[in-house]
Amino acid sequence: MAADRSNENNSISARVGTSYPPGQGEGSPEGRRPLRSLLIRGAIAAPLVLGAAIAFATKSAERMVYDTDGEAITLEAGHPSLAKWRLPDVPMPENNVSTPERVELGKKLFFDPRLSRDGNMSCASCHSPMFGWSDALPTGRGFRSELLGRATPTVVNTAYNPIQMWDGRKATLEEQAMGPMEASSEMNMDLARLFKWLNDTPGYKAAFQRAYPGEAIDHRTLSKAIAAYERTIISNNSPFDRWVAGDHNALNARQVRGFEVFIDPKKGNCSVCHSGANFTDNGFHNLGLPSWGDPNPDMGRFAQKPLPKMKGAFKTPTVREAAATAPYFHDGSAATLEQLVDHYNRGGVVTTNLSPNMKKLDLSAEEKAALVEFMKALSSPQTAVELPTLPN
Ligand code: HEC
Ligand code: HEC
Repeated sequence: MAADRSNENNSISARVGTSYPPGQGEGSPEGRRPLRSLLIRGAIAAPLVLGAAIAFATKSAERMVYDTDGEAITLEAGHPSLAKWRLPDVPMPENNVSTPERVELGKKLFFDPRLSRDGNMSCASCHSPMFGWSDALPTGRGFRSELLGRATPTVVNTAYNPIQMWDGRKATLEEQAMGPMEASSEMNMDLARLFKWLNDTPGYKAAFQRAYPGEAIDHRTLSKAIAAYERTIISNNSPFDRWVAGDHNALNARQVRGFEVFIDPKKGNCSVCHSGANFTDNGFHNLGLPSWGDPNPDMGRFAQKPLPKMKGAFKTPTVREAAATAPYFHDGSAATLEQLVDHYNRGGVVTTNLSPNMKKLDLSAEEKAALVEFMKALSSPQTAVELPTLPN
């Protein structure tokens, strides 16, 4: 097994740390603002409300846009029409409600390279907090650096997704978690050996007992613990979130303009697919990427659901934290957010089976730059991710 990795006192600076439900977990809940401070802000804001109302009345005509749902959106911080961009609480399955013990165990497992055959690859090797919980590579590097066929998606806010993977072949985080350990192209672990080792490691044995009392250490408890940890990797405190909550200073004029382009069907038309507070419809679309023109292209969702329109269609990812997760798309074909916007502006490259929502946009340079600035406003503040102490 791998050399002991003593990570005590180590931490990684990251945009998204882990946020725990109120009153739980290690240290302060960085991702959430305490209710009290919101209430105090409310009290201070009260005398300003009248002034703000007058401003709405005079400015609303020019600050209003009909979005991709056909709804009238007023582009003012805290406006009620922005309600659909407020993230709800993290959903949790009834049979795996998070506890601090489950999250702590899951975190150790997520960062432990001893869960891989060669003892050198953990979930965090590819989903690293340093790179927005992805790997900064066009497509992943797996077992002994083998090149994988698809890019590593971020795990940020996957807790909100009702469907996982580029082709949607997994439904839940619990269902997904064993995949990479077993996959010969990734962690390539012998599961019988893994469960024996976990049972023989007193620190893990005790941690599993605390997290799932009376249950065996098996694929169920292992994947539940990892999923419980992933449900703490949450982006919900970006400048955009603060603007939606009512902080007028959270976004600058260009970022608000970028949001307008993002939701306007006559401009970016982005929110037709990147909809709602997690910026995804959890659907599958063919964007006409250059790799779709290859002789044997990746069929994407079609391999799971053989409907003609699913040929070359991939799952809509969140746009949250995108500033940290370059390169972009399942094939890593856009190196920067600017290149990504250019792809959309062109209306795609390969037009076979192209999504009807992909069309030439004719955005001006100013609109393209504003879009990029808006996406950057979906980044959380820098926080420290404490690396866990690995059990022996
Ligand atoms: C070798 C790199 C690598 C390792 C190690 C790895 N992953 Fe991944 N992960 C990927 C790639 C690549 C995909 C996308 C694959 C696909 O969709 O076909 C992915 C997809 C995912 C997804 C789906 C995200 C989404 O938006 O659909 C989750 C969740 C995830 N991984 C969690 C984990 C966990 C938990 C571990 C450790 C047990 C892990 N990964 C280990 C590369 C890796
Ligand atoms: C037709 C639906 C659709 C529209 C319209 C759309 N997107 Fe996407 N977006 C997707 C899908 C699907 C992917 C992943 C495609 C793939 O990799 O094959 C994606 C990927 C992305 C990513 C990359 C995320 C990552 O982690 O790789 C970003 C950022 C993004 N879109 C932003 C935008 C912006 C900005 C616009 C508007 C100019 C837009 N999208 C319009 C569906 C859409």
